[in-house]
Amino acid sequence: MTERRKLIAGNWKMNGLKTDGVALARAVAAQRAAAGPSAASAVDLLVCPPATLVWPVAEAVAGTGLAVGGQDCHPKVSGAHTGDISAAMLAEAGCTAVIVGHSERRQDHGEGDALIAAKAAAAHAAGLMAIICVGETETERDRGDAGTVVQRQLTGSIPPGATAANTVIAYEPVWAIGTGRTATATDVAEIHALIRADLVRRLATGNGVRILYGGSVKPANARDLMAVPDVDGALVGGASLKADEFWAIAMSCP
Ligand code: 13P
Repeated sequence: MTERRKLIAGNWKMNGLKTDGVALARAVAAQRAAAGPSAASAVDLLVCPPATLVWPVAEAVAGTGLAVGGQDCHPKVSGAHTGDISAAMLAEAGCTAVIVGHSERRQDHGEGDALIAAKAAAAHAAGLMAIICVGETETERDRGDAGTVVQRQLTGSIPPGATAANTVIAYEPVWAIGTGRTATATDVAEIHALIRADLVRRLATGNGVRILYGGSVKPANARDLMAVPDVDGALVGGASLKADEFWAIAMSCP
C-alpha cells in the first residue's frame, strides 16, 4: 500500500490582519516545535492566509516546517487581470501550495471546472502543489447526486500533469462548510472511495494523491474523520483560526 503522509491544511479565508495572521502562524509553529520531532514529523502542516498576509506569514515561519499556501491563483502567468494574483507571485512570496476551486470561489465568482483545471495547471507550472476542491451542495445530495457531482468535478478540474507530488484533492460538501454539520463517516468513506477510484484510474500515481476532508472539522470530530479509509488529512476553515484547535486536529491523525 502506498504511504500517504497526512496533511492538515488551514484555510483562513478572508480573516485577520497582519498582526493576527503572523501571531497565529507563529503560534502554530510554536506548538509544532514544542511537540518535538516525532509529533512534528507525523503530519504535514499548511496554513493558507489571505493574499496580503502570505508574504509576512511565510517570513515569520520560515524554517519552522510550517508550510504556507495561497487561497486562489489566476490561470495566466501575468497580464491585464485586475485584482488577480499569479501562481508565480505566490511562489515568490514563500508559498508551496495553493487552494483552487474552493466552493466559495465556485459560488461567489462563478468558477467552473475548466477554469479550475487551468488554475491547477498554472500552480503546477509555478512549482506549487494544487489543492483542488470538490463537493456537492445540499440540494445535490438530497437529490442523490453527490457522487455524480463529485465525479463530474474531478473529471473537469484535474489537469493533465497532475501527480501525487503536485496535487491534493479536498472533498468539501458545501452544506458542511461553516455550518457545524459534518458528513457522517459513512458518507465521507463513500465519496473518498469514489475519488480514490477515479484517481487510480486516471493517474499513474493516483494511489499516492492525498484526499482531504473539509467541512466543520473540529478537535471534537477530527479523530473519527481522520480514521476513515482514504481520508489523508483535513482542510480546516473556522478551527484553523485558533492555533490550539488547529494543532489538536493535527494531533488527531492516526
Ligand atoms: P469550516 O471548517 O469553517 O467548515 O470550513 C471548511 C472550509 O471551507 C475549508 O476550506
